[in-house]
Amino acid sequence: MAVADSLAMTVESPLPPTITATPKPVAGEPPLRTTVESLFDRYVVPTVNRGLTLIRGEGRHVWDDQGRKYLDLGAGVAVSSLGHAHPAIRETLALQAGVLIHCSNYYFNEWQGRLAQRIVELTGPGKVFFCNSGAEANEAVIKLARKFGHASGRYEVITATNSFHGRTMATLSATGQEKIKQGFEPLLPGFTHVLFNDLAAVEAAITPKTIAVHLEGIQGEGGVFVATPEYLLGLRELTRKHDLLLTWDGVQCGYFRTGRWQSYERILEGVPGGEDFAPDAIAMAKSLGGGYPIGAVWVREPYQDVFGPGSHGTTYGGSPLACAVALAILDTVERENLAENIRARGEQLRAGLTALIGTRGITGVRGHGGLMGMTVEGDPYGVVARLTQAGLILIPAANHTVRFLPPLNVTAEEIDEALAVVESTL
Ligand SMILES: Cc1ncc(COP(=O)(O)O)c(C=O)c1O
Repeated sequence: MAVADSLAMTVESPLPPTITATPKPVAGEPPLRTTVESLFDRYVVPTVNRGLTLIRGEGRHVWDDQGRKYLDLGAGVAVSSLGHAHPAIRETLALQAGVLIHCSNYYFNEWQGRLAQRIVELTGPGKVFFCNSGAEANEAVIKLARKFGHASGRYEVITATNSFHGRTMATLSATGQEKIKQGFEPLLPGFTHVLFNDLAAVEAAITPKTIAVHLEGIQGEGGVFVATPEYLLGLRELTRKHDLLLTWDGVQCGYFRTGRWQSYERILEGVPGGEDFAPDAIAMAKSLGGGYPIGAVWVREPYQDVFGPGSHGTTYGGSPLACAVALAILDTVERENLAENIRARGEQLRAGLTALIGTRGITGVRGHGGLMGMTVEGDPYGVVARLTQAGLILIPAANHTVRFLPPLNVTAEEIDEALAVVESTL
């Protein structure tokens, strides 16, 4: 039974009303944006340069404080998998909030067990550890590798240059981008970075202390670089030969974004030997919770019990509320064939953008499905700002790249609309 139906039988609770009002300017008072910006100036740690003041969202659209509507194909950086204010998420949040929001991991809770089962069924034999974010999921993967290698004195992890794995000290140390590490030295020891898609470079970096190779199937923040099939199959063989774990960061490129559950399935489609490929652990987050924070690590058999009781944990991870929401999203994705939808929308987007290459400062297109990068001359932040002004929200990335990370239920009309905005604005 779908999680929403099962909950609805337990609790009678009306759906929360959709908030449709946009604040009206009050005579004599400054616009809301001015007030909010001054609150941020004064009270919020300025870790990021912010843009619009957003008030509400519905479907693939958001509205700012002036009542202006935007087509949101950034989805909060690949998070809002069902778009904004989706009934499945609203309903489940409301119902489960009236049943049990949190209970800690000292106890069993049904939805955590059921979500783990669904993830294992989608991925392969193994078990799942739950946490709250992408960084935490990668942190758990790194700890898992270290725990696995502890008895043999191995702890080094090889990652790719241009990768991004998060902002905690371990995931920052794992990340292959110097600019985000500056000022935080000394970093955690035990990470080596080698060129992405260069198998020989990985082989050359292996030492007697190496325990794992960790990578994104598609580098998202780095500028939408896709791993090649030869690299993935070669890495699997190499890591087996050296008794290393091959661990995967599917935080951005996973969750059906490529049209398949995990990006390696899409990359290896039709490639001989590709269907047998599986990493040893996968970090997940973002789209899994559709905006409600949740992270997860799938650990393949026979490594699923490397973390024994007391070896790793989190207060909030796998709460009944987070897991119920994640289950409701999975139900919706499957019921509405959203993997197929995003695959088709990705091809539509690729075709439209490819036709624009060589014009409007667009230099290339790469990616799959709902993780598509448009490369541009000059500063991608400037391009994103101009498109936002024109009503289209996208996300900048490194290496002159602008990312399209639409909700999985984006429509063909909305992709056409986005292409028209790109064409008329740049
Ligand atoms: C590939 C990848 N890994 C990890 C992270 C970190 O996730 P979070 O911001 O949820 O900690 C991100 C975030 O953008 C990501 O893209």
